[in-house]
Amino acid sequence: MHVVPQLDYDDKDAFYRELAGQARALVAGEPDAVANAANVAALVFHALPRINWAGFYFLTGGELVVGPFQGRPACVRIPLGRGVCGTAAAEKRSIVVDDVDAFAGHIACDAASRSEVVVPLVDGAGRVLGVLDVDSPELRRFDENDAAGLAAIGRAWSDARDTRS
Ligand code: SME
Repeated sequence: MHVVPQLDYDDKDAFYRELAGQARALVAGEPDAVANAANVAALVFHALPRINWAGFYFLTGGELVVGPFQGRPACVRIPLGRGVCGTAAAEKRSIVVDDVDAFAGHIACDAASRSEVVVPLVDGAGRVLGVLDVDSPELRRFDENDAAGLAAIGRAWSDARDTRS
């Protein structure tokens, strides 16, 4: 069983350092990418305040397909280059969206979502594996520190996938 202590979000650097450590501990020794994504999505969803969705999209057959997540049911398939997730995957970069209504091509899954952060998941060879997406019902909920912190959590997931024995 995993006991996950509550973290102080006011100090974001410390918060994400600690959360990335918890993510690494959760996936340590387990090479199953779906199992690890499920636990990481649950970890992020319960650790971050003021969010309504956290989860994975995997790049499969040239498009993003929803993976393990927490929150309301989501769009299953997103073409590369479409929406926030498809753009982050196609351009291999993190995207912070202050107001989803102002992002051309945003794909609405949960009508409650107002802002969003998406980070690409990349393997050891630099190939895009998918994205980690977190949504909030608040405008301007995320900043670059959230993107950097979530990217570190994404690396914890992709590193475990790369070290299968
Ligand atoms: N809003 C995302 C789609 C995924 S859901 O928010 C879970 C997008 O525009 O890519």
